[in-house]
Amino acid sequence: MGSGYPSKDEVLDYLVSSVNLSIWFIWRWLSEHPEEKFKYTFNNRVSILHKTTFNPGHLDAHLDLENIPKSAEWLIILNSLERYYKSARKKNDFSSFEKHSMEILVPLLNGRVDGDIENLKSGKDTEKYQCGSLRYNLCVDQDNPKRIGFHIANACFPCSMFDDKTYLPACFVVLMNQCEAKFGISEIGTSTWLNSLPKWNALFPDAWQKNMGPASENIQWHYGFWGQFLNSRKTFNHGLAEQFKKTGKMPFLPRTSWCRTSEMRSHLKKFFT
Ligand SMILES: CC(C)(COP(=O)(O)OP(=O)(O)OC[C@H]1O[C@@H](n2cnc3c(N)ncnc32)[C@H](O)[C@@H]1OP(=O)(O)O)[C@@H](O)C(=O)NCCC(=O)NCCS
Repeated sequence: MGSGYPSKDEVLDYLVSSVNLSIWFIWRWLSEHPEEKFKYTFNNRVSILHKTTFNPGHLDAHLDLENIPKSAEWLIILNSLERYYKSARKKNDFSSFEKHSMEILVPLLNGRVDGDIENLKSGKDTEKYQCGSLRYNLCVDQDNPKRIGFHIANACFPCSMFDDKTYLPACFVVLMNQCEAKFGISEIGTSTWLNSLPKWNALFPDAWQKNMGPASENIQWHYGFWGQFLNSRKTFNHGLAEQFKKTGKMPFLPRTSWCRTSEMRSHLKKFFT
């Protein structure tokens, strides 16, 4: 395993390997959900477009599919991919779908590498994170007005946000202080693949486990599902991808949970003593 900032080769490997895993996933998902349309799966369950030069922003940027630059050009590409998919499906030939898709997509990945390295080094993907590696929503949860939703990204890159045992607890204290003052909330909650990861769940009180919802198998394009294939250096986690391909099950499925800030504060004390 490398250390420090990723090299150009590692950044390209992340893009190519993620796209390749997505192509494998599309084939498999549509084998199990033959009623779903190819373009729906492509646009909603994977984030291939983000990894191409059609995305003007960083890898985790919000993308408006209707308004991407050169969207007519992208549509031509998407139509070709769909044609290759349909023809390969008739012959049950995944290899030909994979080969043709990668031939079309890889040239669109190379041009991102330098920009992605700059974005990683300048922390572009975490610039809207108000509390280190945590970001809170700018309004309370619609269904639970006492609750604020939050999101997670590794602002400690190229190190792990789990390395210093007091770091994430400190991020949570800042988040709760700010959110209680701004929104008058008394609960925090999130939906993430991390809720299936023991070292993440150890940060929370027992109530977090008690309030945990079911695992979601309704795979969506975003990091709530696919973030697990990034490691702390923001390179590709090949081990997890192999496990996904071997078992057909995404290793860490997202679950939703919440707890009271009072319970969280009591629990976090142990990290600071
Ligand atoms: C969250 C995140 C930082 C991962 O956490 P992490 O534990 O710090 O990641 P690490 O790089 O330390 O490693 C994860 C695992 O992959 C392994 N790993 C990392 N790089 C590896 C490599 N090159 N080869 C083999 N294994 C590797 C590690 O050993 C570790 O395994 P372990 O947990 O069994 O020890 C990372 O997934 C991320 O940034 N994701 C994007 C953001 C995200 O998903 N947010 C949630 C949105 S809801």
